[in-house]
Amino acid sequence: MAVAARTPFIAGNWKMNLDHLRAVALVQKLNWTLKDAGHEAGSVEVGVFPPFTDLRTVQTLIDADKIAFALGAQDLSVHESGAYTGEVSGAFLAKLDCTYVIIGHSERRQYHHESDETIGAKAHAAIRHGLVPVICVGETAEDLETFGASAVPVGQLEVALEGLPAGSDIVVAYEPVWAIGSGQAATPEQAQEVCAKLRAVVAAKLGAEAAEKTRILYGGSVKSANIASFMREPDVDGALVGGASLVADEFAAIVRYQKHVGV
Ligand code: PGA
Repeated sequence: MAVAARTPFIAGNWKMNLDHLRAVALVQKLNWTLKDAGHEAGSVEVGVFPPFTDLRTVQTLIDADKIAFALGAQDLSVHESGAYTGEVSGAFLAKLDCTYVIIGHSERRQYHHESDETIGAKAHAAIRHGLVPVICVGETAEDLETFGASAVPVGQLEVALEGLPAGSDIVVAYEPVWAIGSGQAATPEQAQEVCAKLRAVVAAKLGAEAAEKTRILYGGSVKSANIASFMREPDVDGALVGGASLVADEFAAIVRYQKHVGV
């Protein structure tokens, strides 16, 4: 069966950084930098994931200036609407033209005690609203020592995908917790090994065709100096970038990984 190539996806998770005014400055600078460098929109999908309070502003900017970036949110509620103070519905995100929503980031799992089941419910909520969930999985340093690299992320993904319709449009992000914000990225070989196992989980849960088209990202201390080595791996289809996504020149260089020397 001929399979369409997966478009590489470079996603910037801003976390709780940049208010809506600074968001405008970053998106504009990133756009100009990529244009100046002759980046061909469409060869690599670029996603920005600002805080909730920036989404409307970034949506308006992308729309007005016809910027070829996809917009995503960093979380969503499992509920549709109602008495859930502080929560944000997937319906609201869809109205703001969000394409994606990150779920299960290790910072949500750690600081907000989100369980695998909650993350599964969020995946369902995203799909119900036509959003593509970017489902984050990854092992802590202790998990790595006790179980090896793949057991925990594989288990997390199995629960997150439970009951989703076959063929659901999802993105998976493998983010070893020990690599996030530490400057200590996984090796490309480690990332490949786990990403291949995660693709097998997608195949088992959502079907072989869905597994072939699903982008699996690596995340954790990605920068312009190491992105090309990850992108050479057959099961790594992009990156979820935290710290380096806040600096336009650096994020643009990550997006342009194909141009790096030695690739
Ligand atoms: P980092 O974060 O690139 O700053 O390591 C990645 C993430 O948490 O998504």
